[in-house]
Amino acid sequence: MRHILVASTIVAAFVCHATAKPSPLDQDFSYTHQLLSANEEQEQNINQANHVPMLSWDDAYVKARALVQAMSIEQKVNITTGLGWTVGPCVGNSGRTTGPDFPELCLQDSPLGARYADGVSSGVAGINAAASFDKEAIRRRGEYMGSEFRAKGINAQLGPSMNMMRAPQGGRNWEAFGEDPYLVGVAAVETIRGIQSQGVMAVAKHLIGNEQETNRQLHSVHIDEKTMHEVYLWPFARSVEADVASIMCSYNKINGVYACESDYAINHLLKGQLGFRGFVQSDWSATHSTEDSANGGLDMTMPGDITFNSGDSYFGKNLTRAVKAGTVHEDRVTDMATRIVAAWYKLGQDQGFPQPNFDSFRPERGLHLDVQGDHKREIRQLGAASTVLLKNNDNILPLSSSQTRTLSIIGADAGPNPKGLNCEDHGCNDGSLAQGWGSGTANYPYLITPLEGIKHRAGNRMTITELLSDTDIATAKKLASEADIALVFVNANSGEEFITVEGHKGDRNHLNIWHDGDKLIEAVAEANNNTIVVVHSVGPVLMPWLNHPHIKAVVWPGLPGQESGNSLADVLFGDVNPSARLPYTIAQKLQDYPAKISNDMSFHYTEGVHVGYRWFDKQSIDPLFEFGYGLSYTRFEYVDPRVVVVHGDSQDPNVEVAANIMIRNVGQFDGAEIPQVYLSFPSIAEQPPQVLRGFEKVFVAKGSQAPAVFTLKKTDLSYFDTNTHKWVVPKGEFVLHIGSSSRNIKHSLSFTLN
Ligand SMILES: *[C@@H]1O[C@H](CO)[C@@H](O)[C@H](O)[C@H]1NC(C)=O
Ligand SMILES: *[C@@H]1O[C@H](CO)[C@@H](O)[C@H](O)[C@H]1NC(C)=O
Ligand SMILES: *[C@@H]1O[C@H](CO)[C@@H](O)[C@H](O)[C@H]1NC(C)=O
Repeated sequence: MRHILVASTIVAAFVCHATAKPSPLDQDFSYTHQLLSANEEQEQNINQANHVPMLSWDDAYVKARALVQAMSIEQKVNITTGLGWTVGPCVGNSGRTTGPDFPELCLQDSPLGARYADGVSSGVAGINAAASFDKEAIRRRGEYMGSEFRAKGINAQLGPSMNMMRAPQGGRNWEAFGEDPYLVGVAAVETIRGIQSQGVMAVAKHLIGNEQETNRQLHSVHIDEKTMHEVYLWPFARSVEADVASIMCSYNKINGVYACESDYAINHLLKGQLGFRGFVQSDWSATHSTEDSANGGLDMTMPGDITFNSGDSYFGKNLTRAVKAGTVHEDRVTDMATRIVAAWYKLGQDQGFPQPNFDSFRPERGLHLDVQGDHKREIRQLGAASTVLLKNNDNILPLSSSQTRTLSIIGADAGPNPKGLNCEDHGCNDGSLAQGWGSGTANYPYLITPLEGIKHRAGNRMTITELLSDTDIATAKKLASEADIALVFVNANSGEEFITVEGHKGDRNHLNIWHDGDKLIEAVAEANNNTIVVVHSVGPVLMPWLNHPHIKAVVWPGLPGQESGNSLADVLFGDVNPSARLPYTIAQKLQDYPAKISNDMSFHYTEGVHVGYRWFDKQSIDPLFEFGYGLSYTRFEYVDPRVVVVHGDSQDPNVEVAANIMIRNVGQFDGAEIPQVYLSFPSIAEQPPQVLRGFEKVFVAKGSQAPAVFTLKKTDLSYFDTNTHKWVVPKGEFVLHIGSSSRNIKHSLSFTLN
């Protein structure tokens, strides 16, 4: 391989040089194409972008100021203004300047892979990344996505998505990381670091309060100060600490003002309190004004036109006019441009960043580069690592090919989509579900269905029968009755509001399984006393059949992406011991949740900080499956817990508390465990009964043990004090709970901060 590596380095150097030359796009395409014709060279080129050095914001600002200083007002305005929907190759393209030179930037969906492109991977959704509770795996996901975006010439990936799963029916919940701000924050940080290690800007979104799709462009959400900081702003604070290049403001209004012109959300919270130094871009058509947006802190309007293809803009000429009229200060426009240019320098994009070599709207213009490398391995691993085992009676799983001779696979969700591999923006729910719908999607290069994955893994040692229908109940019963084990596949989907699928306009209308899946499950369970249910879902569903004695196992692969069937087979056959955890609460009934989708034009987040499991804990409601829950094929014991105040007291900004625990694998399989740390605060902090403040994925061979170590710093020990408007570490006694879920606490230990 060595000679290829050397060769590809040279190729890459040529490409950088070539793309830096100012030449028409089409010429660049063909030149790049010649150089990258050999497949191996392509792969090496893709993989070699590893860990591009990043400038500090200070250094990036020095360079940016020098460049922007030489720009006219029109030029500064130009780089803040998108070219308009479908004008450029990407879903968002900003204007360029010549003399001084600053290129058009390519901004492209989505949080899980490059949308409207071919030759790219379509991996696990954000909600699955969170379910892995595996920081390293989440980081690697960010890295491979970043490398693909870079190889396609995309400057900014429009992700991660980090809105809270406040109402479980929220249509885009699956794009993000679940119901707990701490978990969302960790997943966001790892994703951002991964993406940006490839020199691609990450775009954290959506600031703020876009927790549902219904009326998202019209309504106003009201979030009290404590809840804002402790829940909704928390992941953005962590993203700023992780040096995220850009943040996207949301469609909705915050406290009566559109998010993209909210002085409070952008200037006060984000740029003021959090010290964000990158640029704020609008969600697509979320800009509603010239002066108010510019003065409210918006730095770039996307896709640039007022409405798609309207040909006009709130920025562009309007912004120049406002500067000349004195309603927007020129310093503000200088700041807007400086933030954009600084982000570009910070990510090293001045060093030969490739130009877009694909076209979202005119695919025939693209080079069709295959940039997938071997990312399918990562996707398969993460698919298995994010498959939650909810129930496993009589240890029916893992499947053993010596004991199981016949397997019946039932349900349309086990098979291919009869309408084709990729319907437009995945706005359909036919065949196996492996991602939701809307702009947060990427076309599958292929989809390994559950049926294929299981058949491939079972080989010829098992007889497999199949019925890829949800409605043929009679055949389902017949096949199930003839098999040793029946696997029944069901799903529940959701997405973005611009597509309505089977009556669901983005948000789900209910939490039931789609296509009458409960009926199918019950019919199969009636016919076979070794029934296993597999649920592909965007979030919680109701499970009225859960305690049926014939239903021995429930497997929850969520939205596993292109390797769906392989990663499922890895878990079903025990090649991977499941370790994933629910990043949300599955309630017994819809009414148990703290928040629903609202149809009001103005509404309050009345549950306050008690989002998700915090509500269930506070109200003493038993969920069906709690946040953090997930089974393994082996058994773990938690022994020898300790907690110490390593350093400082409540007044010390370097205060540090450490906890550790020994995890013993006392079962029959090697496997990973996810110990979680929840913290109970002194009462003055007005916190929920317990909040997540740490988790680790620890691999332990059977009969062996391994330690898990947790460090809690000032942020983790703080609450937001609304009297002083500051984060404060309270004095007094804390209780630290270590467990395998939010309700399976193994040890509770107290410590005191003076
Ligand atoms: C603005 O950007 C467009 C698109 O890149 C470019 O064609 C135009 O020349 C730019 N105008 C100015 C004033 O820089
Ligand atoms: C300026 O903004 C107004 C809306 O405020 C819009 O109607 C008009 O078309 C815009 N002008 C340009 C040149 O884009
Ligand atoms: C399960 O079904 C098999 C085949 O119909 C039957 O022989 C067996 O007795 C059943 N076991 C239980 C526990 O119901």
